[in-house]
This record gives sequence, structure tokens and C-alpha cells, in this order.
Amino acid sequence: MRMYDIIKKKRDGGELSTQEIDFFIRGVTDGSIPDYQISALLMAIYYRGMSVRETCDLTFAVRDSGDRLDFSAIRGVRVDKHSTGGVGDKTSLVVAPIVASYGVKVAKMSGRGLGHTGGTVDKLESIEGFRTTLSEEEFIGQVNRVGLAIVGQSAQFAPADKKLYALRDVTATVDSMPLIASSIMGKKLAADDDCIVLDVKTGSGSFMKSVEKSKELARLMVDIGRSAGKKMVALITNMDRPLGNAIGNSLEVIEAVRTLQGEGPEDLTEICTVLAGYMLSLADMGTPDEGKALAKKAIENGSALAKLKETVAAQGGDPMRIADPETFPKARFRCAVKSVSEGYLRSADAERYGLASLSLGAGRNTAEDGIDYSAGIVLKKKVGDYVHIGEEIATLFSDNEGAFAEAEKTLRDATEIGSTPPPEEPLVYGVVD
Ligand code: URA
Repeated sequence: MRMYDIIKKKRDGGELSTQEIDFFIRGVTDGSIPDYQISALLMAIYYRGMSVRETCDLTFAVRDSGDRLDFSAIRGVRVDKHSTGGVGDKTSLVVAPIVASYGVKVAKMSGRGLGHTGGTVDKLESIEGFRTTLSEEEFIGQVNRVGLAIVGQSAQFAPADKKLYALRDVTATVDSMPLIASSIMGKKLAADDDCIVLDVKTGSGSFMKSVEKSKELARLMVDIGRSAGKKMVALITNMDRPLGNAIGNSLEVIEAVRTLQGEGPEDLTEICTVLAGYMLSLADMGTPDEGKALAKKAIENGSALAKLKETVAAQGGDPMRIADPETFPKARFRCAVKSVSEGYLRSADAERYGLASLSLGAGRNTAEDGIDYSAGIVLKKKVGDYVHIGEEIATLFSDNEGAFAEAEKTLRDATEIGSTPPPEEPLVYGVVD
């Protein structure tokens, strides 16, 4: 078999066989296929797409490219939630402890920030001492003891995806349906959960910009998961605007804690209780609505917050940060962005808000870059609010004062203020089950 023939076949619109896809992923994993041929095939897939059968084959090949986790020693139902990536999306930090507080097991593998989107692992590492690398024994032991553990992915986990993702990131081939579905589901299936709730983001801040495409992606991922024997459901949720008010690592942990204290922003609280409701429902704890009511109860009675504190302590993090989030180190500098016009805040482009946060130091430009954990943005006005001249729209935080000018410009360009209120947009566009 030759890589040249596989590229040519896909370039001309052909359907790759299971053997050809396996050959490709084996070569990606062992380094025998050069980057230029991998990139050429990625671009051919981007333009020609893949059938459902090809996408399933690609997913299973990615899953099998490295170690598969064995969670059979975990006692109880194992439920995971995965977001396709967004701006201000700290839902995992809220829903995982809610669900675990009911005895449902959450053995979570999370990612780092990607492009303009943030990652749960970076957010957790803003808590001093928090270990996002645990041995398999420690991980499973903690899930059995506490009910929740959150770690990053090891190098042996779905290594083909690491390679493919890095190349997609620099060859403009990220937003391809079969490539996203196989990347996400390849990793999800290499873990050993019984049930998975997918949060498929739609809108400017997500990788799928239209609701129709997001629904199609959701359907595809649900079908792939089911074909591997998982209980699956996907929600299509709004990522046209940032979620909640905080963007940036420790700022988002603080907001997650406030949400678990019952003082979170309305949109974040709503999405988190809906997602947790579906997770509890897949774990046979009633209907999604009953699950949502349970989620609200776990916030009201403090059990979810206590579970987060217990998890942070178990993984070596300072529980004081959760008990009193005011103790998080503060950025050295702050800058208030004030409105120069009056009217309704009509839109806040999530992708560009994410880029502004990145430029303040909250994310990486290259894989080697460090992160300024206290950098980011706190929104003072949300879409739909009325804004007066001179009123603060947002506060920027950074240890690098020189970063404010560019971030402020990006933010202003990404914010539309007009004389009429914006049309209502739902938080949840639909459910694929
Ligand atoms: N998240 C992933 O893990 N992979 C993608 O392709 C997109 C989002």
C-alpha cells in the first residue's frame, strides 16, 4: 500500500477502505508517513468529506493508536461529559462535582486550551499544587474514593490524534466534520465510560459555525458512540457569545466556584444544570428534567461545592482556593474597557473575545508557551444589556501591561452596540438522543 495512492483516491472523491485508513493511522502513529503526506490527505478529507463508515473506521483507528483505559475496577456507573470547545466554557468544573455528589462516578480526561478556546486542564493548574497527571492506580483509586478525578491526557493516549491535531491546527483543516468527530470520539472511546453527554457548541466561538452543521456533527458522534456500545446524548448549545462572565484560567475557576455557591451567571448556571441533568439521567437517575432538579439541589445544599473541594484536595491543590476564591493570586494590572456609545449590546463575538483573552496571556501561541493564570477578561455587560457612554463593558487582567492596547481593540471590534435590542437566541438549540 502506498500513501500516494490513498491521497489520490481521496482527492478524486473516492471512499477509503478500512485497510487504507488503518494503514494511514499506523503510519501517523509510528512516524513512517511524513507530515507533508499526512497534511495532503487531511486537506483532501477536508474538501471531499468521508462517509459514515469511513468516519467510524477513522475513529476506531485513532482509539486503537495507543493505550486504552480499563475502568472496570471503578465501582458504579461511569459518566463523562465532553464539550467541543468554547470561550468561557468552564462547565466541566461545575457539572462534574454536581454529578459526583450523587455517587455517579466521573473519571475525567480533559484537554488544554486549543486556538481561541480554553481547556479544563489549564484552568485546574491555576490552583497551586493541583496535579493533572496521576498514575492509573491513583486515578482509579481517587474515582472510587471521591467519585471524581480530572486529569490531562498522557502521551500514550490516542497518540495519532495528537499528531493529526497539531497538523490540522497549522494547515487550516480543523473545522472538518469527519476530522472533528473522529478526534473527539477516538479519545472518548479510548477511555472506558458507560455514558457520554456531548456538549456540541455552535456559533462564532465554536469550530462549527452553523446550527445545522453542529446538529449533523452531534448526530454523527452519537451514532459512533452507540456503535461502540455507549449510552450517548448530545446537546447543541450557544457559543455565539462567551459563556458566563469570566474568560481566563483562574478567573473561570472563581466563576465556577461562585456558580456552585448558587451565585453564578444565569446562562452558565442554566447550561450546567441542563448538562448535569442529562448526565444523571443517563446514569438512570430519572428524566433529564428530574436530573436538572437534582443538579439545582446539589448547588443549593452545598454538596457539589464540597465535592469540588474534596477533589482539589485529593489532587494536591490548595482547597483554600475553593473555600475562598478571593485568595487566588491577582493579575498585576487591570484595564477597564468603557463604552463610547449608548445602546443595546447586540453581539459579543465569542471567537474574538477568546483571542483577546489569549493576547492578554491566558492561552498559548505555541505549544511551548507558558500561561499567565490570572490573565483574562471579566464581562460587565452581556448581550441584551443596555449600555451608557462611559459605562464599563469589561475588565481586562494581565501581568503584561503592554498587552492591553491590542486586547482592548480586539474586544471593541468584537462588540456591537446598537439602538435596538438583539434578537433572542436560545442557550440550547436542540438535543440529539
Ligand atoms: N476537540 C478535539 O479534541 N478535536 C477536535 O477536532 C475539535 C475539538
